[in-house]
Amino acid sequence: MNETMMSNIDTVPVNLPDRAYNIRLGPGLLSTAGAEIAPFLRRPKTWIVTDQTVANLHLDTLQKGLDNAGISSASLALPPGESTKYWPEFTRTVEWLLEQKVERNDVIIAFGGGVIGDLAGFAAAVLRRGVNFIQIPTSLLAQVDSSVGGKTGINAPQGKNLIGAFHQPKLVLADSDVLNTLPKRDFLAGYGEVVKYGLLGDAKFFDWLEQNGADVASGDLAARLHTVRRSVEMKAEIVLRDETEQGDRALLNLGHTFCHALENVTGYSERLLHGEGVAIGCALAFQLSQKLGLCSQEDPSRVRAHLKAMGMKTDLADIPGDLPDAETLLAIMGQDKKVVDGQLRFILAKGIGQAFVASDVPSEAVLSVLQEALAAR
Ligand code: GLY
Repeated sequence: MNETMMSNIDTVPVNLPDRAYNIRLGPGLLSTAGAEIAPFLRRPKTWIVTDQTVANLHLDTLQKGLDNAGISSASLALPPGESTKYWPEFTRTVEWLLEQKVERNDVIIAFGGGVIGDLAGFAAAVLRRGVNFIQIPTSLLAQVDSSVGGKTGINAPQGKNLIGAFHQPKLVLADSDVLNTLPKRDFLAGYGEVVKYGLLGDAKFFDWLEQNGADVASGDLAARLHTVRRSVEMKAEIVLRDETEQGDRALLNLGHTFCHALENVTGYSERLLHGEGVAIGCALAFQLSQKLGLCSQEDPSRVRAHLKAMGMKTDLADIPGDLPDAETLLAIMGQDKKVVDGQLRFILAKGIGQAFVASDVPSEAVLSVLQEALAAR
């Protein structure tokens, strides 16, 4: 591994008892993946689950990087997109790993965005009652959120991520170079999750994003590294406090109750990417917080101003096509998996960087926020 590359690599530890692992981030990590991964292998062989888009762009670089350390690899490239995250492609993946004679002490690699990380991680969780896996996230969303913290799973016809397991990776390699090949829309969707971290728990980070968001979007390496590092530091802190979401981990769902209803009514399609729904959901969560007298009027305006300045979807008006009425959206929220004892749980905020979990939100207030947002379309 050459020294220039090494010096740009940062480590964020996730110090879970018995299952501690590192998130390594910086440029060139695909090329040096062999040296990074070798300490985790019992034999010099690994299996890569990816999608066809990522395979076309980056699989050669990763396989050469493994090969440099004498590690052979086989790969399975699934179709790209959310429709892969169901039983058929999951079964195909597990059966491929079995045909490849992957053993319990082997390590598989999830190489892609959130869909691949979740699906391959879940395959690792159940294969031979659990094999080790390494996350190599290739989207901004996966680098700052889904590759960290051990949530794995697939979708059911009844809803997203309803079938799954907690299974922590052994290592996360977040190569900043791969972000350069992301379409702008996908990058900005991932940025929705980045903004979420500032809004939920770090007002200074939100200030920083307001000042530096344009550099992050235009590809400035230092700005991107700071963005990913601060995001995963926050995620690691929260996961350490509450690995299985009995309490604080729910803070990571800021904006997600609105987002899941909007994704549902837009058919989990190109009309609304998950991260775009998170951004709109964060704006609505601040609107709701303000309506409930929890935060100042200025806060929701600031959130929306930053999203708009970044060229992101911010309002319901930014979602193309028809949307159902507020009552229908509210009813869909009532089926969310965050409902406990029939009560909708929302993440609300007392200000920027001060989110908390609320389980007693009056549905009239939610309805009125939705009605106002729909009327502005
Ligand atoms: N993406 C939310 C979580 O990992 O808890």
